[in-house]
Amino acid sequence: MKIRLMRPSDLDAVVALVVARQADPVHHIGYLDAEPQAVASQLATLEPDGIGGHLVAVEEADDGALLGFLGLDWDNEPPRVWWHGPVIADVNQWDVVADALYVAGLARLPATVTEQELFHDARSGLLAGFAARHGFTREPGSAVLERSLTDIPSVPVAEDVSIAPLAPTDRQAIATLHDTTFPGAHVPGHRLSAGERRRVLVARRGTTVIGYVAVERQLDDEGYIDFLAVTAAQRGAGIGAALVAAALGWCRERGCTGVHLTVREQNGTARALYDRLDFIETMIAIPWRTGTTMAGH
Ligand SMILES: CC(C)(COP(=O)(O)OP(=O)(O)OC[C@H]1O[C@@H](n2cnc3c(N)ncnc32)[C@H](O)[C@@H]1OP(=O)(O)O)[C@@H](O)C(=O)NCCC(=O)NCCS
Repeated sequence: MKIRLMRPSDLDAVVALVVARQADPVHHIGYLDAEPQAVASQLATLEPDGIGGHLVAVEEADDGALLGFLGLDWDNEPPRVWWHGPVIADVNQWDVVADALYVAGLARLPATVTEQELFHDARSGLLAGFAARHGFTREPGSAVLERSLTDIPSVPVAEDVSIAPLAPTDRQAIATLHDTTFPGAHVPGHRLSAGERRRVLVARRGTTVIGYVAVERQLDDEGYIDFLAVTAAQRGAGIGAALVAAALGWCRERGCTGVHLTVREQNGTARALYDRLDFIETMIAIPWRTGTTMAGH
């Protein structure tokens, strides 16, 4: 077996392997897409190096058959790598190939990256064993929820409450609410921003910021609700539900095919809210981490 950097010419074989494995809970990686086109786009856009930054395991010959794949997505703020894999072809060689890819992946990271995350279907003993063996700590499970956009619920709010896209003057209040609600999140508060594919929708009572939802249209055209928070004093008045309804509306306007999100399995308040808004659970996924303690969603 040989471990080397992925090349553009590996793309078709890697996409075929990922798509086949993503369909099986025993191999399913929470961060990876499942459709061929979406997987190809995703691998090209993971940071910082796209396709040329990932690793493949191949049979001894340089152009030998593909044995496994490990995608790297890392950042300096937070200083973290999100492992998109390992995805292994032969279950009988799973541990050997996965460990070799992981060792090579660690060697590719700059010393500044001190935190690691893995995220896999709760039914995967292979991935749980891998994470435990390499010193990751298991975090509470997250439910992956999804919903269609055929009907958007109407959620009435008090007359003095409005929901509108993030304005420059909201940035400080939103960053503070975000960082106190989701310490150590994959995006820090001051980097929450709008873009062609992303919106932060802000709830205000009068002029005071009382909540926000961060939503995006992913490369596979699925909507994704990334963060939702309401200030503690304003909870229980329907603001959270109204923000989710506004996010669903934005996704529908953008032509998204559906919407999904992840929420801590034990976050009863948020789960009740999503239940009322007709989200359904598709999977429980387990986050594993090293080098940090973070609040999950
Ligand atoms: C989850 C969260 C956003 C909900 O915000 P919220 O504004 O309180 O949400 P809602 O008011 O729409 O719904 C919450 C509760 O208030 C109740 N409620 C809604 N409207 C109400 C009203 N007019 N009067 C009284 N109660 C009301 C709902 O029934 C619901 O109760 P339940 O959980 O027992 O079913 C908020 O609790 C929060 O910021 N939590 C921390 C961050 C978090 O967990 N985010 C979600 C994960 S991404």
